[in-house]
Amino acid sequence: MIVTIDGPSGTGKSTAAQNLARHLGFLYLDTGAMYRAVALKAMREGICLEDKKGLTRLAKRTRIGLKGTRARGVRVFLDGSDVTRAIRAPRVSQAASLVATLRGVRRALVAKQRAIAAGASVVAEGRDTGTVVFRKADLKVFLTASLAERSRRRFEELKRAGHRVTLAEVVRQTRARDRRDRRRAASPLKPAPGALRIDNTRLKSSQVFDKLSDYVKQVQKKALLR
Ligand code: DC
Repeated sequence: MIVTIDGPSGTGKSTAAQNLARHLGFLYLDTGAMYRAVALKAMREGICLEDKKGLTRLAKRTRIGLKGTRARGVRVFLDGSDVTRAIRAPRVSQAASLVATLRGVRRALVAKQRAIAAGASVVAEGRDTGTVVFRKADLKVFLTASLAERSRRRFEELKRAGHRVTLAEVVRQTRARDRRDRRRAASPLKPAPGALRIDNTRLKSSQVFDKLSDYVKQVQKKALLR
């Protein structure tokens, strides 16, 4: 079974997807972490973020590992080294959003995402997991929340992680990333046909989880009756 959860940044996709995957015993596939890992590597190697060919080659030759651990949550590995924290830096967020506009990079990462999911039951999270990566997913969800609320959440998250930012800065960055994610020609952010929409501005994560597990139960029931 494949469940996709897409939506803009700060909507609580990661929490929702991780909780659901843990509950169902499914693999959790954080596709955004993969764009972040490619962006981080490009920054470290000094590759210009407009060098389409260079970045596509880089995406193809990069090994990205996503490992769930009981004690420390999901860890992200870039060519074998743990970059879980480094990929969350604000500079990497902006770079990832640029790198994600490139078709070649997307093609390389979509292939890796499908390979990771092959034969497995998965909860995938991102911007295009329902529209492109897993078009035949059993359940597609599109999470939204207001810009103000999403920025507030991201701000708290960054503060907790020790990054020095202001709320105004985070609002500006969130708006810029939204615009880039929605307007890009390659796999723009939009709800997949048939996706269930959840507005998470005023919901607790437990309420989102309840809704998601209800949907999953409905899908499983339908599959049994078929
Ligand atoms: O979900 P996130 O903030 O970790 O994603 C980082 C960037 O990668 C974000 O700007 C959007 C992009 N992204 C994408 O284009 N497609 C995906 N499936 C996942 C993320």
